[in-house]
Amino acid sequence: MTDKDFDLTRRSFIDRVMMATAGAGMAAAAPWAVSAASAAGADPVKANPVRLGVIGTGDRGRTLIQNINKTRNCAVVSICDTYAPNLAKARQWVGPTTRVFSDHRAMLDAGGIDAVVIATPLHLHARHSFDAFDAGLHVWCEKAMARTIADCGAMVTRSQAANKVLQIGHQRMFHPTYLNALKRAKAGEIGSLTQIRASWHRNNAWRRAVPADATDRQINWRLYRDSSAGLMTELATHQLQVGNWFFDAPPTRVIGSGSICFWKDGREVYDHVALIYEYSGGRKFIYTSLLNNARYGCEEQIQGSRGTIEPELGRIYQEVPAKVLALQRMQKDVARGHKRTVPIGGATWFPELPVTTPGESLGWGEYDETMLQFEGFGAAVRAGKPLPGLLRQAYQASVASLLGEQAMDRGEAMTWPTNLVAI
Ligand SMILES: NC(=O)c1ccc[n+]([C@@H]2O[C@H](COP(=O)([O-])OP(=O)(O)OC[C@H]3O[C@@H](n4cnc5c(N)ncnc54)[C@H](O)[C@@H]3O)[C@@H](O)[C@H]2O)c1
Repeated sequence: MTDKDFDLTRRSFIDRVMMATAGAGMAAAAPWAVSAASAAGADPVKANPVRLGVIGTGDRGRTLIQNINKTRNCAVVSICDTYAPNLAKARQWVGPTTRVFSDHRAMLDAGGIDAVVIATPLHLHARHSFDAFDAGLHVWCEKAMARTIADCGAMVTRSQAANKVLQIGHQRMFHPTYLNALKRAKAGEIGSLTQIRASWHRNNAWRRAVPADATDRQINWRLYRDSSAGLMTELATHQLQVGNWFFDAPPTRVIGSGSICFWKDGREVYDHVALIYEYSGGRKFIYTSLLNNARYGCEEQIQGSRGTIEPELGRIYQEVPAKVLALQRMQKDVARGHKRTVPIGGATWFPELPVTTPGESLGWGEYDETMLQFEGFGAAVRAGKPLPGLLRQAYQASVASLLGEQAMDRGEAMTWPTNLVAI
């Protein structure tokens, strides 16, 4: 793709966000996206960009650098990683003047940055963000927020005390298809939302090969409890954010069951999780994630009385009229001569198969929602105040994922904490 093509793609992407967020309901439902898209349209390209220092140049950190490079208002001026091979791989994505560090404190002490981008393993997010706030910097941090609910709260209070922006990387909140889906749900097109059935199913060990110069816990931090809550903080947190967003509330309670059912390879985190999150009014978010069957992939099925939305697929389905009950259908078939008798003791059941109508597109594409997140972050840093509504979504999603872990570990229903930090 040439730069010219990219500009066109970018324009249509931001136009789509603008379109998807236009309208009274959306200013309240996705205020961050409205702010980010309008800021993105206004900024002159790379004039006086917000200077970012990236901590953690592993898989995600390097992707983020590429996204930041495409923004109009942010530039990576420093990078830092404790593992030299990942730092070396990141160099190809930054300019020759970018400063390179193996210690994040040295990067903070060196100055010359306005904000840090944290893409380190989960258990380090809190420490790295505290150090950045102490250095007087703004923070953009990958999801999930932190390894414990207490640390998630502390990240919020430290950002408030320092009067600095804290933004968390939940990119779906900037995605035109999700924004459009929410807009149509808000307009009542799928009726009253009562259930979301979500899954993230993969068929791989989630285990990375360990190079000779590294340890398993360093490379496979996702598989160990000290550093990760596994599927809950890595995958479910994204979908819990979607659930909270569409239900317009955090859950009230969660029950769940987790197990290491298939990959018995010394890992400590579950490879199968199944949870039910309850929301006010009896609404439910039913979640499964597993690592040895990919048939149902990653999706949120947002189910209302008049229809269903599947945002990953980018489709909305209207509910079809209720089917005739199987026995009534059988009686009719007999009356019409399609069946001769009702066999006693024989089959009396016709399966209620899923509705397979094609539905309608919500728009789908390889959008660069992560880039827009950073343009929004750049605008927030310039203004010295966070994009509205964003941090509450992230905080509640992280708490929900960690509360789910507790429900599975204890085998008890966990109620939504009453002592969360006010945002
Ligand atoms: N939003 C998304 O879609 C998405 C996708 C993938 C990963 N992530 C998140 O990104 C983060 C990183 O994931 P990843 O897959 O890139 O992991 P990774 O292991 O590939 O990268 C982590 C990097 O952090 C470095 N690191 C560890 N300790 C450090 C320290 N003290 N100082 C500086 N660097 C240090 C490691 O050496 C490594 O290079 C995680 O929080 C993960 O949840 C988000």
